[in-house]
This record gives sequence, structure tokens and C-alpha cells, in this order.
Amino acid sequence: MADSASQAEEQVLELDDIQGTLLRLRPTPFTGAYFLLRIDDPDDGRQMLARLVPHVASATQWWDPPHHAWLSVALSYSGLRALGVPQESLDSFPDAFREGMAARAERLGDTGDSSPEHWDAPLGSADAHVAISVFAPDTAAMESLLETARETLRDLPGVSVIYRLDASALPSKRTHLGFVDGIGEPDIEGSGVASLAHRMGGGDYGYLPGFGPTIKAGEFLLGYVNEMGWTTPMPQPDVLSRNGTYVAFRKLHLRVAEFRRYLKDNASSPEEEELLAAKMVGRWRSGAPLVLAPEHDDLDLAADPHRVNDFTYHEQDPAGLRCPLGAHLRRMNPRDALADSLVDVKLHRALRRGTPYGPMLPEGELEDDGAERGIVFLFIGADLVRQYEFLKSQWANDGDFVGLGNEKDPIMGSNDGTGTFTIPKRPVRRRLQQAAPLRRDQGRRVPLHARHPRSEVDCRA
Ligand code: HEM
Repeated sequence: MADSASQAEEQVLELDDIQGTLLRLRPTPFTGAYFLLRIDDPDDGRQMLARLVPHVASATQWWDPPHHAWLSVALSYSGLRALGVPQESLDSFPDAFREGMAARAERLGDTGDSSPEHWDAPLGSADAHVAISVFAPDTAAMESLLETARETLRDLPGVSVIYRLDASALPSKRTHLGFVDGIGEPDIEGSGVASLAHRMGGGDYGYLPGFGPTIKAGEFLLGYVNEMGWTTPMPQPDVLSRNGTYVAFRKLHLRVAEFRRYLKDNASSPEEEELLAAKMVGRWRSGAPLVLAPEHDDLDLAADPHRVNDFTYHEQDPAGLRCPLGAHLRRMNPRDALADSLVDVKLHRALRRGTPYGPMLPEGELEDDGAERGIVFLFIGADLVRQYEFLKSQWANDGDFVGLGNEKDPIMGSNDGTGTFTIPKRPVRRRLQQAAPLRRDQGRRVPLHARHPRSEVDCRA
């Protein structure tokens, strides 16, 4: 039951025991890489983790991380098993985590081209035991940390690196589809930093309007009170879960040429193409929100952390004449738009960390060049079903909640090119055929068993 005292009081987060990547946004520009490791010998695996964890940046060290680069680590269910975690303890993890995303593909809408048999090996397989990400402001800092990471594997034949994916900021500082991303992030109670403050240039902006109500830390971290007033059940023993969380790790291939052709085919001028792109996402490519800039892009608005997120739907755009009801942004965080329904939007927020991979498709190119490009997408929260799976299955791949029947998210819905995308307009709405799928999922879910450094060592118990 809700404990009113714990709800009212701000919880103190154990920041030095929480991986920094959970609570902090990475400054840009950056260069980085993701690695997956397989553990064939539990002793070697534990030894490797014991060596690695002192180099993991905590939320307190984030601004001055070891080696001036950021290392984060996560373990999958099969990884915990490979480390020798007892079955009783393994059984205390939730089904969604134990089963993994490949087994739950149907409910996640990972079908057709995005179904698990098309995922890059070893994504989605039981071989991916440990995920490590390394990010740095420049190549020298990155190399220095990578050298340290290699050292942790020295003389440990029972641990192998089975996958590497380089993922760095693009020269455009945007994502492959041309959008600025990473603006909408929840404010986490007790995290000690306002959303976005550092992404927007490192200053202390204090309170930033529009980021919605501050959300209880228990929505994002295990061991704290959540929005329902209780602590999300923790896998046992506590040492495996406290200050940790779950991560859906996805590699999303983006069909950039397809997107550009879709805009061209459905618009009569470059300006109209930009507007259509904005209607699909809910923001102009600069990041300026349609609700505040319905006709034209507004670069000053996009650059202003006090205004870029300061809008609502129910109050300012109830019929979706500015930002369509089915736009990606509005679906993924309906803000006040569901105020009249039973849905509590605060129960479906989560943290996002996205990194582009692959080369940019040259500006103006409309034909696919065959290169692998997309985003590595990390979706982080304490309840995989209520957060990640709900967003994917209900808000992305269903339109009922906004009165759009079975219309899907125009950017990341499991579209096959036969659906529709409705743009409310007066006197007559515009209804386009959806683009063919713009993304292909190649994902895998791993838990950030971010009980930060100590936990990995404790894991031997
Ligand atoms: C095809 C891959 C995707 C692309 C290109 C993409 C792109 C974007 C862009 C450009 C924004 C606006 C920037 C911002 O507000 O931060 C955004 C926001 C967002 N996206 Fe995505 N996204 C993708 C996949 C996903 C997935 C898979 C999810 C969740 C399951 C998701 C959840 C969100 C959320 C929660 C927001 C913030 C909404 C808000 O707070 O107003 N996105 N995305």
C-alpha cells in the first residue's frame, strides 16, 4: 500500500551506487561503441567483472568519469546464469526479462522484417551475456578506456567479445532521419539534475518548464518508491537489484532513403516535405515542437531549454491541428492529452538513450546505398511490461487510445505500407498511406544490473 510519508518525502538516491548513464545525459559530441561478451567460464566471468567495475562511471562521477570516458555495463538473464547465479535467484527476475525480447516479439510488434530471425547475431540469442558501452568526447579518451577494458580480459579465456558496434555522434549532430533527438526526458526525483540541462550545453538551468511532473525514482530504479507508492518487486538477493534497473537494448536499422522518398512523394515542395516530416514526429527536425511552432521551424525556440519542451496537448492542441494525434511524440508521451481517460501517463514514462550508428546517407540522396545505419536505442525503466512493452504494443502499434483505430506510429510502428497516417486539418483532414517500415528491429533486452561496481563483485555470493 502507498506509504504517504514515503510519497511525500523526496527520496535520497545512492548516486555513487547508480550507473551514471541511467541518470545523466551524455554530453555531445561523442564517439562510442557497444560490445557484447559471452561467458564460458563463470570464474573468468566474475574475475572480468571484478576488474571492470571500478571503471564504470557512477552518477556522482559522471562529470569527471574515470579515464574521462564513460563505461557502462549490463547483464542479460543468460549472463547471470553463465556467472553461476543460483536458480532460486534467477527465478526471482520478472518474466519479461527472463524470456527476452525475441520470445516476446509478437506482443512487441517485432514481426515481418523486424522479426527475431532477421536480427543480427548474436542479438536476441542466449549468447549475449554482458553488454558494455564505452563513450568518450574524443578518440584518444575512448582508446585509453578501451585499452583498460581489454586489460580486464587478459588471461581470461572463458570470456570472449562476440560483437562490437561503433556508434558515434553524426557530423550533423542529429540522427539519420535529420532530427535532433533526446529532448523529451522525464525529471527524476532526487537525481540532482534537471532534465536536459547538460545536453543543452552543460549549464545549470534550474527548473526547466514543460518536462512534466517530477517522477518518483522507483519508476526508473529498483529499490525506491514508484508512482504507485510502493517499491517495484526486487529480484533477490537485494544486492542483485538495488540501484539497478532494466534496459531494452535495440539496434534499429533506419531506411533513410525510404523516408526521404516518402516525404517527396507526399509533398509538393521542400517546405511541405519539412512540414510532413515534422507532422510524423511532432517536432521539426531542429527539435522545435509543432504545438509551439505549427507553421514554420523556429531555431531560437529549438535552442531554448526553457521553451523547447514547454507545451501540452489537451490545453493547447486538443484536436491535433498542430501536432497530429498519431505523431510519434504525442503517442510516446501524451502529456495531458489522456487527462479524461483512466490512463496515468506517469506510469508509462522511461529513460531513453539513443546513439546513431553507420555513415550518414549523403544529403539529397534518394536511393539506398546498402550501408548499415540506424540508432542503438536503450529504453530504461524499472518495469519492462508497464513501460517499454506498453509503449511498443499499445501506444506505438495501436491507435485506439487516440481514436485512430489500428493506425500505427508513423516512425516506429510496425507498418507494412498499407496503413494510414492521419493529419488533422481544416476544413478536411489529410489521410496518407503509411510509409513502408522505416525501421527494422534487431534488438535484445539486457538488464542493467546496475547495482553499480560493488554489485558485480557481490554477485559471486
Ligand atoms: C525508429 C526509431 C526512432 C526514431 C527515429 C525516433 C525519433 C524520435 C524523435 C526525433 C523524437 C523527438 C525528440 C525528443 O523529444 O526527444 C523522439 C521522442 C521520443 N521517442 Fe522516439 N524514435 C524512435 C524510436 C522510439 C522507440 C522504439 C520508442 C519507445 C518504445 C521511442 C520513444 C520516444 C519517447 C518517449 C520520446 C519523447 C516524447 C516526449 O517526451 O515528448 N522512440 N523520438
